Amino acid sequence: MSTSYHAAWSAPSNIAFIKYWGKYAGQIPANASLSMSLDACTTRTEVTAERMPFKDFPDINFTFEGEEKPDFLPKIEHFIRAILPEMPWLIECRLRISSSNTFPHSSGIASSASAFAALALCLTDIESQWNNSADKGRFFRTASHRARLGSGSAARSVFGGYTVWGKDKCVVGSNNGYAVPLDDPMDDDFARLSDHILLIDRGQKSVSSTAGHALMNNHPYAEARFQRASDNLHSMITAMRSGDQQRFFDLLEEEALGLHALMMSSQPNYILMRPNTLAAIERIRHARIVDHIPVGFTLDAGANVHVISLTEAKQTVDEFVKSELKSLCANDMYICDQMGTGPKSIT
Ligand code: DP6
Repeated sequence: MSTSYHAAWSAPSNIAFIKYWGKYAGQIPANASLSMSLDACTTRTEVTAERMPFKDFPDINFTFEGEEKPDFLPKIEHFIRAILPEMPWLIECRLRISSSNTFPHSSGIASSASAFAALALCLTDIESQWNNSADKGRFFRTASHRARLGSGSAARSVFGGYTVWGKDKCVVGSNNGYAVPLDDPMDDDFARLSDHILLIDRGQKSVSSTAGHALMNNHPYAEARFQRASDNLHSMITAMRSGDQQRFFDLLEEEALGLHALMMSSQPNYILMRPNTLAAIERIRHARIVDHIPVGFTLDAGANVHVISLTEAKQTVDEFVKSELKSLCANDMYICDQMGTGPKSIT
């Protein structure tokens, strides 16, 4: 009779305020990044591991939203290969993985962060059942370390709130191997931020993030960028602690535009923003500078715009998004989200 183990976790997507862009061998980030984990945008994953001795690689069956997805398998197998040295028991397994997202598929929202975080949490959970050990203190750190090997930004999705991944002298305990929650007491204004995600373009990105990271290897501005990221991290944490909204939004937008400037100056160069990305940026800046609404933007590696605002202004920002930004979105689609408390075990 074979023994089987089961775990189910939901993990949040996250939006980076200080961007991870550029990495070294072994998924080591070129600079530390800071993100906010989201509340509504999550991946929910369930794993059953059945013990099947005498094998040399685990059998994997993967379904996404109820359907078999053979095209997702190479990424999962690559991930399993990367974590195998520290989870050798996986070799003896038949793994059944089923996953679903709370946000629309191919909406342009990066799902690899929440997906690999949820999968790493499930496998780390099964490992503790397998070994009959529960090292609760290190559980999330271990899962973050493994999630990172699937996708760098996934390391941060193993925690709620604000999270830092990558070693930087301004964050005590920060590490290149895993993310850590940013425990600094923030000014009340920054206790929780909102994020309205404008789905500007639902098409496939022309250049993947992984390819974009690789273009940083010989990028003419790489060294200056990595230094700037570290300076910005320090300044942003200081602004969030002291409640300096203007400084925070300045840094947030500089990071977003800086990320896209790196893409536009890579060799080869490329542009992921669309005309409506720029239109949204202009309206958001007008709302902050002229109408004094505490709102700013950030971008991930795509055309979508994350409208970041202070929670106290949520109602005003809801109205602003509906009246001025919604029409810039593909099929008028946007998602209302906010800072979330992190992954949850589903029983
Ligand atoms: C622009 O984590 O998707 O969203 O490690 O190659 O999987 P890989 O890249 P990924 O890169 C994320 C890039 C970003 C910035 C960020 O989230 O920090």
